[in-house]
Amino acid sequence: MGIWSEYGEFWKVTRRNFKTTGALLPSSPFLARALAAELEGPRPAGRILEVGPGTGVVTKAIARRMKPGDHLDCVELNATFADSVRELVRSHRAFSGKRDRVEVITSGVEDLPGTDVYDYIVSGLPLNSFPAALVRRIFEALARLLKPGGVVSYFEYVLVRELQKPFVNKDERRRLHRVGKIVGQYITEFQVRREHVLMNVPPAVVRHLILKPKRAARRGDSSAGS
Ligand SMILES: C[S@@+](CC[C@H](N)C(=O)[O-])C[C@H]1O[C@@H](n2cnc3c(N)ncnc32)[C@H](O)[C@@H]1O
Repeated sequence: MGIWSEYGEFWKVTRRNFKTTGALLPSSPFLARALAAELEGPRPAGRILEVGPGTGVVTKAIARRMKPGDHLDCVELNATFADSVRELVRSHRAFSGKRDRVEVITSGVEDLPGTDVYDYIVSGLPLNSFPAALVRRIFEALARLLKPGGVVSYFEYVLVRELQKPFVNKDERRRLHRVGKIVGQYITEFQVRREHVLMNVPPAVVRHLILKPKRAARRGDSSAGS
């Protein structure tokens, strides 16, 4: 799919579902690369979850960084987007040699079952468009799904809450304030790295969080002796 047809497809879905897509355009390749950056370099094979792939720009960036033995699940709430990512996985060269290790699940991430499943989570969710209670549920789900020591990478548009506040009503200001508080707590406690991406409309900041520290090995667990 060329860039203009990708924009056209994204727009067709987003104009009817703005509350869940939260964006007018898909992410730029620069933002996609920053979101997938934790997968670069030497590392053991692992399980990767992409949340909210949309038309698949970040999915392609993840696929290009997949190592032998990696497995990628993509969870997408919108059935039209989920189908187009399935088609992308079938047809795009970024997935060649990896197609049987990529699965697309039509669901909200908060409803995915399991605990300590993924080494990496890459999220494109528009948290600032969501009710505060949903943002809390989503962070709880990400923490449950992530293995200890695993990394979640996500983005926010720069100053998105501050720029909206003067133009919205009291209820919406209150919602933005609550979302900011929840997100801020997670950033303060768990952020390990961040990167500004100016080459995106609008500019964004990518945040990398370790939501659960690696458990210390219990006595008798280690390979050091029996
Ligand atoms: C801002 S768009 C990002 C799309 C794509 N990752 C990109 O960067 O261009 C957000 C995506 O998250 C999806 N989404 C929204 N809520 C979701 C949820 N609870 N679980 C999974 N996907 C969700 C939307 O349908 C949409 O595809």
